[in-house]
Amino acid sequence: MMKDKEIQKLIKAEEKRQEKVINLIPSENYASKDVLTALGSIFDNKYAEGYPSARYYGGQTYTDKLETICQERALKLFKLKKDLWHANVQPLSGSPANLAVYLALVPKGGKVMGLPLSSGGHLTHGQKVSITGKVWEQLPIGLDLQTELIDYKKMEEDAIREKPLLIIVGFTAYPRFVDFKKCREIADACGAYLMVDMSHFAGLVAGGAYPSPFEYADVVTTTTHKTLRGPRSAIIFSRKDKKRDDKSISTLIDKAIFPGLQGGPHMGQIAAVAVTLKEADSPVFKKYAKQIVKNAKVLARELSRLGWRVVSGGTDSHLILVDTWMNGNGIPGKEAEARLEKAGIICNKNTIPGETRSPFDPSGIRLGSPAETTRGKKEKDFTEIARKIDKTLRSGQ
Ligand SMILES: Cc1ncc(COP(=O)(O)O)c(C=O)c1O
Repeated sequence: MMKDKEIQKLIKAEEKRQEKVINLIPSENYASKDVLTALGSIFDNKYAEGYPSARYYGGQTYTDKLETICQERALKLFKLKKDLWHANVQPLSGSPANLAVYLALVPKGGKVMGLPLSSGGHLTHGQKVSITGKVWEQLPIGLDLQTELIDYKKMEEDAIREKPLLIIVGFTAYPRFVDFKKCREIADACGAYLMVDMSHFAGLVAGGAYPSPFEYADVVTTTTHKTLRGPRSAIIFSRKDKKRDDKSISTLIDKAIFPGLQGGPHMGQIAAVAVTLKEADSPVFKKYAKQIVKNAKVLARELSRLGWRVVSGGTDSHLILVDTWMNGNGIPGKEAEARLEKAGIICNKNTIPGETRSPFDPSGIRLGSPAETTRGKKEKDFTEIARKIDKTLRSGQ
């Protein structure tokens, strides 16, 4: 028990809340006790500015070992050769990881191509409100509004005409596979680096339930707290043989993280990431990753069957977008989110492709299966969840 009763009470209350609700936020998960133990360990007391064997403080015997193990586990999990790939495990979270790649690879004001929020991208893929959209110029990747999939043909035309220096693919609200091979061809056609932000689907890649981007990308970033089920943190993978002005991009990215952007790494976080990577490198986790996708597919199928419009007609991954507004025939996303929360189902309102309402009260909601799959839920449970969602959304309609 903690001495600080006020905070202890809040921790207990949050624990109860997490236990009670059905959590359908696709970017959340429940990390294991071992991960949380490592996160809250005495490694958090240690300053370790620099990298293994090149630190600015003494006393690094165990931090050096820890960070090296974490890097090795990261490469092993994604089947990457040590002489070809480098893993930086120091980013404090996904946003600074992405920013570090921009800093390393693109001069200020340079063009970066990415999915805007309206296409399912993340703020750090060049959105104006993010530093990535203020310092660099974003060329948006649009969707084909018929299929609600990435419009690769237009993406290619725009890239060849505008010559972005970096292309970022990856998503926060796009339910389908991304064609990494095609993205590589587009990057080659315009001379850009290709970065894949696999934050959302890293756990699925680890478990063989989503295509791996490593064959095609120069850089892969990922958060570790979503489908990968670890602590809040991030990793940047980069190809050692890729260069910018004769310097390896791995070296440039390391420098962009430290001293460019951050000070001392959070060693407790790195310990927890190391534990996460080992947990994910197991047959049990592979099964988990596959179950995540099965559950999301059932949720999409059942909601469609019950009369809700599922964006792009379904999902290939852990997340689905539901058009609850349906051109005025349903209810707005904000209300849907609120009604579901009252019924103990947590999700978030979300824009849909070709959004006609405001982002503060958009047409849809975003749902995901990773957290509830961690709690052991299977297809029949997700069929039940779909029924509960349908009933709740229709009550008072
Ligand atoms: C695709 C993607 N990249 C980056 C991030 C940023 O991660 P963080 O919230 O850890 O900064 C997110 C977070 O939702 C994300 O979905």
